[in-house]
Amino acid sequence: MSSRRPVFAIIFILALTIIDASLGFDYGEAVDKSLLFFEAQRSGKLPGTQRVKWRGDSGLYDGYQQKVNLVGGYYDAGDHVKFGLPMAYSVTMLSWGAIEYGRSMMDLNQMGHVLNAIKWGTDYFIKAHSQPNVLWGQVADGDSDHYCWERPEDMTTPRTAYKLDIEHPGSDLAGETAAAMAAAAIAFRPYNSSYSDLLLVHAKQLFWFADRFRGLFTDSIPSAKEFYTSSGYSDELLWAAAWLYRATKDGSYLKYVVDNAASMGGTGWAVKEFSWDNKYAGVQILLSKVLIDGDGGAYTATLKQYQAKADYFACACHQKNAGYNAPMTPAGLLYLHEWNNMQYAASAAFLLAVYSDYLSAAKSVLKCPDANVQPQELLVFAKSQA
Ligand SMILES: *[C@@H]1O[C@H](CO)[C@@H](O)[C@H](O)[C@H]1NC(C)=O
Repeated sequence: MSSRRPVFAIIFILALTIIDASLGFDYGEAVDKSLLFFEAQRSGKLPGTQRVKWRGDSGLYDGYQQKVNLVGGYYDAGDHVKFGLPMAYSVTMLSWGAIEYGRSMMDLNQMGHVLNAIKWGTDYFIKAHSQPNVLWGQVADGDSDHYCWERPEDMTTPRTAYKLDIEHPGSDLAGETAAAMAAAAIAFRPYNSSYSDLLLVHAKQLFWFADRFRGLFTDSIPSAKEFYTSSGYSDELLWAAAWLYRATKDGSYLKYVVDNAASMGGTGWAVKEFSWDNKYAGVQILLSKVLIDGDGGAYTATLKQYQAKADYFACACHQKNAGYNAPMTPAGLLYLHEWNNMQYAASAAFLLAVYSDYLSAAKSVLKCPDANVQPQELLVFAKSQA
C-alpha cells in the first residue's frame, strides 16, 4: 500500500538527450513524453497552454481550511497527495537537467516545457513557503486518499494541509525545497532574472530555517512517515548549501559544506544510491565540479575528499570498485531496492552522465580500484541503464 511511485522516476531521460540516437532510441521523444507526464500530474488551476487535455482543474481549495493558498503543485503518483519531499527533489532534478543540458533541450524545442515543468513546482513552493520560517509540506493524507481511487477532478477525500515551523522543524524537507529553489534559480536566470532572484530569496530563507531549526520532517508531519520516511537530514543540508553556492557563488555556502563535511557525513559516507531520500552522491558530484573548475582555493583538501566519494559512487555503479559494487541484475540493470527500483537506476544514470561530462571537460579519467575509466565509458554505462 505504499505510494512510492514518485513523479520523478522518468526525468533522468532529460540527461540522455545528449546521447546520439545511433542505437535507434528516440531520446527526444522520451523527453517530450516525460514532460507530458509532468503535465498530467498537475494539480490546481490549469493554464490554457495545458497540453494534456484530459486533465482538468482540481484541488482548487487546497489550504482553504488553513487560510493559506496551496493551489497548484504536483500529485505524487496515481494518488492525489501532494508530498513535499519527493516533489521538491523532482524539481531539483528537473532543474539540474535544464542546467546541464539546456542546449539539447533547446535543440529539441523542449526548453519552454522544461521551464514550465519547473515553474509548476516552484510557484507552488513559493505559496507553501508562506513565511520565512513556515513551509507547508503536505496536502492530503495517504491513508484516506489511497482508500478511494478516483480522478482528482472528482475527489471528495480530505485535503488536510500540514506545515513545518520553528516548533515543528523538518530540515530534510526544508533543505530539499531550498535546493530546488536554488537550482531552479540557476535554470531561470537566462530567461527571467526577476523570477530567478525571487527563487533565491526563498532558497536562502529556507536553508536558514532548515539549518537553524533541526529535525526530521516526519516527526513534524507524521502522516508522511508511512510513505516517505527520511533517513536523515544532513545530506539535504549539504545539498542545499551546495546548490546555493552554485547559484550565488557566495563563499559562506562553500565554507558550510567544508566545515560540516565530516560531521554531516559528506566526506564520510560512501554510497551506492542516489534518491529522493539520499543526496550524498549528488552533493559529492556537485562539489567535485567546484574542484574541477579550479575554484577550490583553501578548501581544496576537503573537496578532494568529497570527490573521492563521488568516485566511489561512480566506480561502484560501474562495477569497478574492488568488489564493493552496486547490486545489479544478471542482465546489467542496477538493482538497489525491490520496490520501485527504476528510479534508482534512473537517478544513477543521470549522475553518471553529469559526472562523465565534468570529467571530460577536465580531460580527466575516473580512477577506480579495478581500472581507469574514460568519461565516455561512464556515458555508455548510463545509456545501458536507459
Ligand atoms: C518573470 O517572472 C515574474 C515573476 O517573478 C513574472 O511576473 C513575469 O511575468 C516574468 N516575465 C516573463 C518575461 O516571463
